Amino acid sequence: MNYKLYIAKKLEAVTGLSVGELTKVMEIPPEPKLGDIAFPCFILAKALRKAPPMIAAELCKEFENDEEFEKVEAVGGYLNFFCNREKFISSVLKKVSESDGSFAKSNEGNGKTVLVEYSSPNIAKPFHIGHLFSTAVGNSLARIYDYLGYKVERLNHLGDWGTQFGKLISAYKHWGVREIIEQDPINELLKIYVKFHEEAEKHPELEDEAREYFKALEEGDKETTELWQYFRDVSLKEFKRVYDKLGVSFDSYAGESFYGDKMQEVVDILRDKNLLTESDGAQVVMLDELNVPPCIILKSDGATIYATRDIAAALYRKRTYDFDKNIYVVGIPQALHFKQIFSVIKKAGYDWADDCVHVGFGLVKFPDKKLSTRHGDVVFLEDVLNESVQKTLDIITANSPEMENKEEVAQKIGIGAILYTFLKNSREKDIVFSWDSMLDFEGESAPYVQYSYARGRSILRRCDIDYSNPDFSLVTSDEEYELVKQINAFSTAIADAANKNEPFYINRYVTNLARCFNKFYNNHPILKGDVDEETKKARLAMVDAATQVIKSALSLLGIETVESM
Ligand code: ARG
Repeated sequence: MNYKLYIAKKLEAVTGLSVGELTKVMEIPPEPKLGDIAFPCFILAKALRKAPPMIAAELCKEFENDEEFEKVEAVGGYLNFFCNREKFISSVLKKVSESDGSFAKSNEGNGKTVLVEYSSPNIAKPFHIGHLFSTAVGNSLARIYDYLGYKVERLNHLGDWGTQFGKLISAYKHWGVREIIEQDPINELLKIYVKFHEEAEKHPELEDEAREYFKALEEGDKETTELWQYFRDVSLKEFKRVYDKLGVSFDSYAGESFYGDKMQEVVDILRDKNLLTESDGAQVVMLDELNVPPCIILKSDGATIYATRDIAAALYRKRTYDFDKNIYVVGIPQALHFKQIFSVIKKAGYDWADDCVHVGFGLVKFPDKKLSTRHGDVVFLEDVLNESVQKTLDIITANSPEMENKEEVAQKIGIGAILYTFLKNSREKDIVFSWDSMLDFEGESAPYVQYSYARGRSILRRCDIDYSNPDFSLVTSDEEYELVKQINAFSTAIADAANKNEPFYINRYVTNLARCFNKFYNNHPILKGDVDEETKKARLAMVDAATQVIKSALSLLGIETVESM
């Protein structure tokens, strides 16, 4: 039941305004005592030449004996609507139970494809916390679009190409020892890469050597290619271990190297369209009219760069997937880069450039200096994940020593706590990483929401009665009504999250849902006291619906639930 629409249809006949105009001005009152929906009559004052309170009083009569509402009041210039709670609760809970675990799922995206590019770490370099931010946001967006019925392609644009690989190969030739690298690949590769830079300060000829190696790599030289392939393989193996821990997956790992043979086309297209200009020996596309610095396509030595590869990738993606939306979840520092490449694509005459979206995010700050710095200044992601799981395990062991599957539970809560942290605020905000708030079982955290779910599930397990078709007239208290209203708001949260590419709408939604659930349960227990059988049934149906929707909402964030904790 869409109440706004229902009210608007009735008002349309008597006010002369359209349904669209009427629904647009309706409000959700700030306090429940002012009703569920309010219609401000001020907008009619001029046309009807009457004072708003008078209009409100007259319109009020239209709703006399309307069963959808418990009451309709004219207060000041407002018409306040109080929905019929029993009808509302029964219709929402019925929908949840019929949805079979996928309440508010829709098919609005059927026939459309959304690409979500996320994570995209650089091979032979540590997977750092910024990549984790991208992974959390992208994974959630992919799940949200999927829930809305879109065909979703999850892309990992690995940083596996560029002049730095010439340096790494040179470093390997000088100081690499295969057996040592095998043991801790990314760390060891990072070490020799750092050493390369130190040595190159003293021996600049190393830079020339690195350039030669990269050239050999670009030309497909066998030995160099094999080495590069080895670096890529060992790195990917480590990345995949992290993805497994996070429950994240990809449909494609086509990274920068994949576009190596697809860049000449970019150069040809841009040259054909007269968009290439020479600047200090480099070939660039001028973007002055947009107040954007020129986009370099070919460096003065003729080499392509990151941007060239991204343009090639976008062309390839359009051709391969014919996307309706092409999303890049990459940190805000790269905003200009994306602005440049989207502008170049648009200038080349491809209107689908407007369907490309950079979804940026802020920085991650570590106030706790001790946090996982065993590798020096870099915060290693895997350490952070392990630490979160370990800390969770310590908490569980202290609180519930007898719990059987502690490790499994700690895994889901520890990882959930991290994902939640990245999705807690609007993504452009910086994040301050704090174990205390992340693992605060009573605060705004994944464990709090997961705990609410587990609590509900345990109630359902302990009450072995059939609660189908309950009498909802028994459960219309404020807390019960608020809970069901919050359950019903799921589709709005999903729509907001998708429209703005902001998973935090879902995060805020599910946290509020857990809060409503706890408030409901604390005020209206089922297991304690002398609750009559019929009321018990109706409340159990409510618990069932709330837990189902908490689970669905958490899954849109990539966070798992546990049945008890
Ligand atoms: N590998 C890059 C980095 O770590 C991120 C790649 C972003 N995606 C893209 N299509 N440029 O900074």
